[in-house]
Amino acid sequence: MDKFIVEGGPKLKGTVELSGSKNSALPILAATLLTDGKCVIKNVPPLSDVYTMLKIMRVLGVRVNMEDGVVTAEPRGYSGCTAPYKLVKTMRASVCVLGPLLAKLKRAEVSMPGGCVIGPRPINLHIKGLSAIGADIKIEHGYIVAAAKQLKGSRVYLGGKFGSSVLATANLIMAATLAKGRTVIEGAACEPEIHDLVSFLIKMGAKIKGHGTPIIEIDGVKSLHGAEHSVIYDRIEAGTFMIAAAITGGDIVIRHANINYLGAIIDELQSAGVKITSLKDGLRVRKTRSLKPVDVTTLAYPGFPTDMQAQMMALMGVTKGISVITEKIYPERFMHVSELARMGAQIILEGSNAIVKGVTRLSGAPVMASDLRASAALVLAGLVAKGRTEITRIYHLDRGYHSIEEKLVRLGARIRREKSEE
Ligand code: EPU
Repeated sequence: MDKFIVEGGPKLKGTVELSGSKNSALPILAATLLTDGKCVIKNVPPLSDVYTMLKIMRVLGVRVNMEDGVVTAEPRGYSGCTAPYKLVKTMRASVCVLGPLLAKLKRAEVSMPGGCVIGPRPINLHIKGLSAIGADIKIEHGYIVAAAKQLKGSRVYLGGKFGSSVLATANLIMAATLAKGRTVIEGAACEPEIHDLVSFLIKMGAKIKGHGTPIIEIDGVKSLHGAEHSVIYDRIEAGTFMIAAAITGGDIVIRHANINYLGAIIDELQSAGVKITSLKDGLRVRKTRSLKPVDVTTLAYPGFPTDMQAQMMALMGVTKGISVITEKIYPERFMHVSELARMGAQIILEGSNAIVKGVTRLSGAPVMASDLRASAALVLAGLVAKGRTEITRIYHLDRGYHSIEEKLVRLGARIRREKSEE
């Protein structure tokens, strides 16, 4: 296992290039299961979650290859319909093969993803959506077993207790592309990753309208063909580097950051006093004066993303004054709080609210990464802490950030990867 050693202090300066979006790439790779045709997916980030998805596709019988960020998938003749526990348990997003397998092979067996450190991860909305268009779904021996002779379009409300669901929306859209008739999804997720998935499906011949809005209409077609697509850049990686600039008092250009996908993050950071300028293909982010605290509530898109909550907490942790961070998507997603406290942060948790009292300086400490975004928050905290921060279990970071340490070093950070005994 690897660990990061971070020496805090340097203000980050320079230009960073974003990678392709993990959360776009995963459902798009799953969507190739809907066709017999060859698909070429570009700008795929070389991350461990992506490799897990490629392994699942191989287990199903798809010929798949990844080179220089380009995945070539040749699904013709694949007949496997089981996504096994040993792969699914390492990546919850594997559940997004459910919809495509059901639509193409009329049967799917996907291991139940289970919970994770960010809290319970139910699948009721996936089941509700697919059942509404005619799937018969049972839970057997730890697997979601779905079958349907013929999927039939229907109208379904997919909003849940915590708002819309990204992957339940993705699963239903994908299954509905090959259903008979029209499916209307109300309360659909509006995330840019859904828009990107639908752009790919349309290139494959799907008939879909309304993506990017909460009402999506899908007219089923008989078959889909192969297509070529380039995945959008990662908006959460963009947000993480925006905070890296702000927290270190730096000045960086983030190439490919798309202002259209970053509205809520830009708004909160600007309210805190961070200077953000839009460039032709990216953003310039700098801190020119002391920051002030802001209260942040995570919400489904276009609200402030839950995947940026931990990083924002690191920033507020060193911003003089008090801020309240409220988590509305995963009310238990606070594993980073106790690790930030080990570095001297003052944070009180009350239910799904974190009350953060900014301190003048954090102090470097040995800390443990617990999940992907919590780990990013620890890296950000380490960049400004006095002295040395040692972050173990960084395999969590490798699931979602491509070469984060190399990108940070190019901006002047002192961070290195070492082998860890743990
Ligand atoms: N939910 C239900 N029932 C369901 C599904 C979800 O109640 O059947 C609830 C969840 O418990 C949560 C809310 O709905 O409260 C939203 O969850 P969602 O289904 O949207 O999450 P997801 O689709 O499984 C994706 C991202 C996550 C990101 C969430 C929310 C991918 C591969 N994953 O997960 O990304 O946090 O949307 O935006 O797209 C990450 O990248 O670190 C990450 C966890």
